[in-house]
Amino acid sequence: MTTDQPLALAADVHLVRSLPGRDGPERLAINSLVLRSPGDTVLVDTGAATGRDAWWEQVESIVDPGDVRWVFLSHDDADHVGNLPEVLERCDQATIVTSWQLGERLAATVSVPLDRCRWLNDGERTALGEREVVAVRPPAFDAPTTRGLYDVASKVYWAADCFGVPVPHPVDEVSQLDRDVWDHGLLRFGSLLSPWVAQVDPRRWRQAVSRVAALDLRAVASAHGPAIRQRDVDHALDLLAELPEHPEEAAPGQRELEALIAATRAA
Ligand SMILES: [Fe+2]
Ligand SMILES: [Fe+2]
Repeated sequence: MTTDQPLALAADVHLVRSLPGRDGPERLAINSLVLRSPGDTVLVDTGAATGRDAWWEQVESIVDPGDVRWVFLSHDDADHVGNLPEVLERCDQATIVTSWQLGERLAATVSVPLDRCRWLNDGERTALGEREVVAVRPPAFDAPTTRGLYDVASKVYWAADCFGVPVPHPVDEVSQLDRDVWDHGLLRFGSLLSPWVAQVDPRRWRQAVSRVAALDLRAVASAHGPAIRQRDVDHALDLLAELPEHPEEAAPGQRELEALIAATRAA
């Protein structure tokens, strides 16, 4: 199993993958997406700067950077806009699909010329060339600028950070994980991603989940987990609906840090 090559989710929809090696038994993906169309290719997020060369290698195996016309940014976290400065240069025909607030928050690190921007807010539907897309904020998120992207033609939904799950070994799809690894991992990652979920009225939360469930979904792609194919989408949504009832996970602390340092030194 390898995750250093793109994974096709539909005709001309490719998940660009990375699974950085970290200390500890689990690894967390940093994915992005390419919607390829002749003359209208869309990049969805730009990966992390620390994985720059491998990210470009996968993107260029799908599309010539000069042929990218649109770059959708889901939000302004470093693992989603890490290669944006180089994308602005190399994809010089591309319009950046962003928002007012995203641009404001990005301005501290990278300046995107306004005349290269299109602003797309949550709930808005637009055409990127011939491709119809809808911005749909996922229920769980860690930045206020977050919008997911639903591609009407392929029925693939880019869920940004939502549906992330740390994995014990590389897999293409969640169905290749033990079910309890997926279940527990999704809930644990979700509560770390969006600790505010514990303060949310479960009824309101389920309404947010229903908004995604109402999409006609062929696949869900997360920046931080294996692909979710159609047969697994209902279970993923059921898990997400439970998130407010999931007890908040204790994050690793100083004791765990010292154990990691000792293990690193002993290796
Ligand atoms: Fe994020
Ligand atoms: Fe992220």
